[in-house]
Amino acid sequence: MKELLLNLGRTIKSIVVLTGAGVSAESGIPTFRASDGLWENHSIEDVATPEGFERNPSLVHEFYNQRRETLLALKTSPNQAHSALARFQNIFENRHHGDFTLITQNIDDLHERAGSPDVIHMHGELLQSRCSQSGLKFNQLKPLNVDSICGCCRTLGNLRPHIVWFGELPLEIPRIERALTTCDLFVAIGTSGQVYPAAGFYEQAKTCGAHTLELNLIQTKSNFDTQLLGNASDLVPSFFSELASSLELEAF
Ligand code: APR
Repeated sequence: MKELLLNLGRTIKSIVVLTGAGVSAESGIPTFRASDGLWENHSIEDVATPEGFERNPSLVHEFYNQRRETLLALKTSPNQAHSALARFQNIFENRHHGDFTLITQNIDDLHERAGSPDVIHMHGELLQSRCSQSGLKFNQLKPLNVDSICGCCRTLGNLRPHIVWFGELPLEIPRIERALTTCDLFVAIGTSGQVYPAAGFYEQAKTCGAHTLELNLIQTKSNFDTQLLGNASDLVPSFFSELASSLELEAF
């Protein structure tokens, strides 16, 4: 890591971080592709596609109601990885005048709870619903069901979870692409790299000249410039703390 930090040096002005389910695993939210994953007992087609929602909206609402309940439970809170990202962004932007873009594939709000401002939730947010007619979004802390009345059109059945399902377009892609083309460092944390377009971000950043770094529990198939293996709650604070020191910013 020392050599990497020396090479990155003080030239870093723009960083993109992409997080996946692994960053929230130590907060008690199961990853997608683990054996105890979220899809257990449900096929992706049933609970994560527009067709599944059309076929059986009650099942889909129930599936996301349970996820929402877990997220809102008192024992679910951000871990050291979420907190380190928020702290680093704060000093990098305020003291180094750098650009820091945080993109997450996660639908939880743990980055926000740790203090990260302006998180790009490319796969949507569990604590929001939206009108399938107008696209208007609402905060959603309570369970949704087929009898929920939409706040904008007052129609039954028009409210859906604000989640990007398979076959739908991820959110904020133009903004993400702009950040990928101008970053000096791209860091992927706790993502298996199996779902596009996020799985291809590191290649886009690399093509545009960024150094690419992966922090993951296990080796993935992706071809990053550097890979560090371990728990996100250890790796993320130690990497970003050392990066802060090498930029002559205060360590944490
Ligand atoms: N620290 C670091 N990495 C971890 C940890 C941990 N504590 N625990 C698990 N991981 C890693 C796993 O090794 C794996 O590579 O996190 C990754 C989780 O992979 P997935 O479950 O596939 O999650 P993700 O990559 O975020 O999935 C992408 O797929 O199903 C869709 O829309 C869903 O956003 C999701 C997308």
